[in-house]
Formats: sequence, C-alpha cells, structure tokens
Amino acid sequence: MARVHVIANQKGGVGKTTVTVNLAAVVADTLGGDPAASPVLGVSTDPQASMLEWAERVGDAIPFDFTQCHDDPAALSKLRQLEQYEHIFVDTPGSLEDESILQTVLTQADDVIVPLEPEPMAFSPAARSIQRVIAPSGATWRVLLNNWDPRDGESDLEQTRGYVTAKGWPVFNTVIRHYKLHTRASAEGVTVVQYPKNRVALEARQDFFRLALEVLGSDGRSPRHAALNAVKAGEA
Ligand SMILES: Nc1ncnc2c1ncn2[C@@H]1O[C@H](COP(=O)(O)OP(=O)(O)OP(=O)(O)O)[C@@H](O)[C@H]1O
Ligand SMILES: [Mg+2]
Repeated sequence: MARVHVIANQKGGVGKTTVTVNLAAVVADTLGGDPAASPVLGVSTDPQASMLEWAERVGDAIPFDFTQCHDDPAALSKLRQLEQYEHIFVDTPGSLEDESILQTVLTQADDVIVPLEPEPMAFSPAARSIQRVIAPSGATWRVLLNNWDPRDGESDLEQTRGYVTAKGWPVFNTVIRHYKLHTRASAEGVTVVQYPKNRVALEARQDFFRLALEVLGSDGRSPRHAALNAVKAGEA
C-alpha cells in the first residue's frame, strides 16, 4: 500500500506547493531506479494548479509521476490503493473554499505536513486549519517551519517556535530556509534535485533531504518528543 503524505494549510502562500514538489523530487531521486516506473507520485488537488504548471515546465526531467486531480473525489478517496507507488505526496488548496477536497485527501493521509512561515500573521490561520480540519481527521500531523531567512536573525524563528511549543504542536526538527533558488524554481522549471552544483544550492537542497529523512524515517508517526508534547497540551 502506498504511504500518503498530505501537505496542508488553508492559509495561502505558506509553501505547500514548494514543499510538495521538492520533497517528492528528493524522495523519487533517491529511491527511484527506473525513470519509467517511479515509486513516487505527486498529486495536485489545488484547482489553481500551480503544481501542474511547475511540473509542465520541468517536463521529462521531473523525477516523479504527476497528476492533477481536483474534481474527482472518488479517485482521491482511493489514493492508498495505488499499489505501484511507495510514496504519494499531495498538494492541497490554500483556501477555505476548497475544504471538501482537503477533507477527502485527509481520509487517505498517513501523515500531514503543515508548512508555517515564521511570521505572526500566519499563526492564526494555521491554528484554524489545524484545529478545525487537520487534527479532527485523526491523521498524524506535524508543523514544518518554512521560508525562514537566516539573514533576518533568529528572533522570528524563536518566536514561532515559542508559539508552536505553547500550542503543544508536533514540529519537524528540520527548518526549510528561504533561498531565492526555491522562489525561482517554478518559473525556471527545475526542482531541488536539478539545482546547480554549488555551495548555496547544496545548502538549499540539504533542507529537503533532512526533511525527507524525518518524514520517511518516522514511518508515519510523529517522533516521540512531539507525541509527548501533544499529549501534554491535551489538544491540538
Ligand atoms: N523556502 C522558501 N524559499 C524561498 N521561497 C519560498 C520558500 N517557500 C515558499 N517560497 C515562495 O513563496 C511563494 C509561495 O509558496 P507556494 O506557492 O509554495 O505556497 P502555497 O502554500 O502552495 O500557496 P497557495 O496556498 O497559493 O497554493 C512562492 O513564490 C514560493 O516560491
Ligand atoms: Mg500551492
């Protein structure tokens, strides 16, 4: 049975598509041997289809299979049964209007990655998504701090970590840093595994390899410390 990883946060522009594409790319690049039979599928369930546009620009160099599926809940409710794949990464819409799509894919989720920017304006919308839709689905979920720019210093990151800890939310150790390479990747038709071989690109790529290790290494479960935090907090 395929393991389904859903990337969700109903706040727009937090990095769902960036994380879905690059995580699928590093997992496919590492696990896939035969390009004609990739063990990884990327699914866009966003009617805005920004992942589809990105995938089309990458073309044949994309290391995973890809499908746009935002209007077929019957298909989305059977994702786990796609036996030819080991891992399925699902991008979801950044809006409240498309909540039924999100709810459908959450029934298939082995784990949910919730990208959050280290930016106080982003906290309440993320909390709403987690409390109203993601946690009630019963899937294992973890917050991923994304788009932190080290040049801005540690204070935003610490503030965000403080908020997440106070909420008792499980969180990935990996932080995805802000890199222009990531911002430009969609327009340039590349994924993280096609970045040039220089030091900055290596750093940018490393965050996604670390994330992949956390996602795949935990076998769908949150790490023990994260699970404990959630228990201590008593609720999401
Ligand atoms: N770590 C990062 N470094 C640099 N740019 C980033 C990073 N994460 C996201 N971005 C940029 O931020 C913008 C929003 O990211 P993205 O499209 O992935 O968000 P989203 O959650 O999928 O948005 P939507 O809700 O509209 O679908 C994009 O321009 C993207 O390139
Ligand atoms: Mg998106």
